[in-house]
Amino acid sequence: MRAHIVLLPGDGIGPEVVAEGVKVLKAVAQKRGMELHLQEELLGACAIERTGNPLPPATLEAISHCDAVLMGAVGDPKYDDPKLPVRPEQGLLGLRKAMGVFANLRPVAVMPALLHASTLKPEVLQGTDLVVVRELTGGIYFGQPKERGVQDGQRWAVDTMRYWEHEVRRVAHVAFRLARQRRKKLTSVDKANVLECSRMWREVVNEVAQEYPDVTLEHMLVDACAMALIRTPTNFDVVLTENMFGDILTDEAAMLAGSIGMLPSASLGEGRRGLYEPIHGSAPTIAGKDIANPLGTILSAAMLLRHSLDMEAEARAVEEAVSAVLAAGYRTADIAEPNCTTVGTRQMGDLVVQHLKL
Ligand code: IPM
Ligand code: MG
Repeated sequence: MRAHIVLLPGDGIGPEVVAEGVKVLKAVAQKRGMELHLQEELLGACAIERTGNPLPPATLEAISHCDAVLMGAVGDPKYDDPKLPVRPEQGLLGLRKAMGVFANLRPVAVMPALLHASTLKPEVLQGTDLVVVRELTGGIYFGQPKERGVQDGQRWAVDTMRYWEHEVRRVAHVAFRLARQRRKKLTSVDKANVLECSRMWREVVNEVAQEYPDVTLEHMLVDACAMALIRTPTNFDVVLTENMFGDILTDEAAMLAGSIGMLPSASLGEGRRGLYEPIHGSAPTIAGKDIANPLGTILSAAMLLRHSLDMEAEARAVEEAVSAVLAAGYRTADIAEPNCTTVGTRQMGDLVVQHLKL
């Protein structure tokens, strides 16, 4: 077996965490006799610096004929000035669109060893195991017009939230299928009391639900969901929502898991080719210090094995190795606890490889 994986380390802590994800993939490949073809390309601020383009043609070319993409993070404070025409994040949005990965799966499971790492009460967190399915290539992130102007001396700006029913339908199917494999409960999150897009979203989700009579569907307004997520997180199984709501709710949900550094994601489209990335950002203030948490990326690599390479047993082995390392008391700085051993990025990667049972 042979797998062609494009690596997009990106900016800030991206290269450090991707290196650990690669370490784990190489260990799996070696144990399974799989030939790994790794190809590194540019994305984000580093791509702007080298080519002037946050998503250069060479990157687009590479992703069009690989099995999967493993990404780190994009973003650099150098590009914070809102007047700049080119920004690293445009590269990431363009990448998602180019790959057609409309369904972003963000699992949030509270690992028993990390019950006390969160700022939330352990009794609230205990048993939390949910997945957010975030629509990723539509809505206000991509809608046109998206522009600024000046009229009568007043600056104005507009972003457009637009959804086509086929965009809602296809991501709803992903969420229903996932719910079917889990506890068969789906919460669709919208703002149907205010937004036209949300009213259509709800209509289409209700139509798709007809095909999944075994799945219990509930609708929840996004503000109420923000509250319920930290009040009773164990009530959720699969959460389906549009692009921007999903962006916001998954940062919130990350706090259930103790640190945003723990959370992986898989972005999937029609085929097997997927984009895998931790949900955290480039964290420029801690870049290059060997203190970033690589577990979100390592768990993303596990999702890559599962969804793009059809290696479920190996994916589980990686996830179990992560749990074992945490259970053994090793922590990165973001989840440090008294009576635990704080380790750096590279050592955490080594520990996961050592605990791999394959
Ligand atoms: C995420 C990030 C991105 C998003 C940014 C970097 C464009 O916050 O993946 O959640 O908003 O989608
Ligand atoms: Mg985000």
